[in-house]
Formats: sequence, structure tokens, C-alpha cells
Amino acid sequence: MTGVHLIHHPLVEHHLTILREKSTHPSLFRQQTHRLATLLASAATADLPLRPLNVQTPLCQIEGQTLAVRIAIVPILRAGLGLVEPLQELLPDAEVWHLGMYRDEKTAQPIEYYCKLPDQDPCDVGFVLDPMLATGGSVVSAIEALQRWGCGDIRVLSVIASQPGVDRLNRDFPEVNIFVAAIDPILNDQKFIVPGLGDAGDRIFNTMR
Ligand code: PRP
Repeated sequence: MTGVHLIHHPLVEHHLTILREKSTHPSLFRQQTHRLATLLASAATADLPLRPLNVQTPLCQIEGQTLAVRIAIVPILRAGLGLVEPLQELLPDAEVWHLGMYRDEKTAQPIEYYCKLPDQDPCDVGFVLDPMLATGGSVVSAIEALQRWGCGDIRVLSVIASQPGVDRLNRDFPEVNIFVAAIDPILNDQKFIVPGLGDAGDRIFNTMR
């Protein structure tokens, strides 16, 4: 199971359409982002390894199952913050490591401004969160940071990716799994995803200008 996973689900289509709509207010935009993150997370966690765990029900003892891996959630600031809460809800023991990046408006290259990932004792599975994967530059930087840490199982969760962006990731990181709700065909001259949804960070944090 590697490569790009485009999640086909009626709820994904429904919530994504509301998210794309220009008039959707930031508070609803945040809710829709949460809902889509939960659906993406369900697919992205479907093969996590388990180990047996004995529990005592009110009636008897049984052998249940518990997660057998150490997990890190790695949101790319700012917009990735919009996906953290639903991931933490599903993975309450996960570590959260923030990566600060913004795209230079002229070059569209990611500029890193915050990274506190440790340099030893890596997690087993790292979930990179960013609602938008445009050129893929920001996600590439995040993947490289997780690889430097030594994380061997990297999974990217993006709401909307561009076709050029997923092609780049598939080519350069074939071992990385990417889970997306939509793959839009093109990037415009400013490297914005079209049709896309605009600037996710601005819409989440109500900083449209
Ligand atoms: C946007 C988006 C991604 C990145 C995608 O962030 O949230 O992080 O651009 O572009 P890429 O795939 O070409 O790297 P932005 O730079 O607008 O920062 P923000 O999240 O703080 O708004």
C-alpha cells in the first residue's frame, strides 16, 4: 500500500463541495475541514499494526487489540493546524510536532520558520497534515524533515492536491502514502490549485485580504 490514495466516499464529496464554496464562512470552513480530516484519517490509519491487550469487561476477560506503533502528527503551519484536532481525537496518544512554513509569493518555494522535530528516537508512523498540496514543495520539506528524524512510515493527509503536486511526490517519494479528498487538474500562474478552494490558511483563520 503505497502511493496516492484518492478517497471515494459520498461524505467526502458532500463536505468538500461546501468547503470549496466561496461564501462558506470561516467557522463552517473549519468544521468542514475537521469532517474531511476525520474521513481522511480513517483511510490513512486503516492498516496500522495492532498488538493483543487483555481487558476485563464487566462480564469476563478477553483479548482485545491496541495500537502497536508510536505515532507523530506533523501539521504544516498554518493551515495544517486545521486538521490537528480531529487527528488527535482519533489518536489521543500521538505526539504533535509543528513545522512552520510559508510559500514565498514570488518563487512559490517553501520558507521554513519553525521546526523542533527531534534528531533521535523517531516515531514509527508520521502523519503530515496540510489541507493543500499545490506544487508539493511544502510537503516535500516536511517529508525530508521526517526522514532526517528517521521516521520510516510517512503518510500525508491533504484535502486537495494538484495533479502536478501528486505526480512530483509519486516520482520523488514512491514509498510515501498520500491520502487526498480530491486531485485538481492544474496550478495557475500564482501556483494556486484550480479549481481548489483559495487559500486554506486564510479561510481557516479569517485573514482574507
Ligand atoms: C499554503 C498551503 C500549503 C502550501 C501549499 O500555505 O497551506 O502549506 O501553501 O503549497 P505548495 O504545495 O506549493 O508548497 P501558505 O504558504 O499559504 O501558508 P499558510 O498556511 O500560513 O497560509
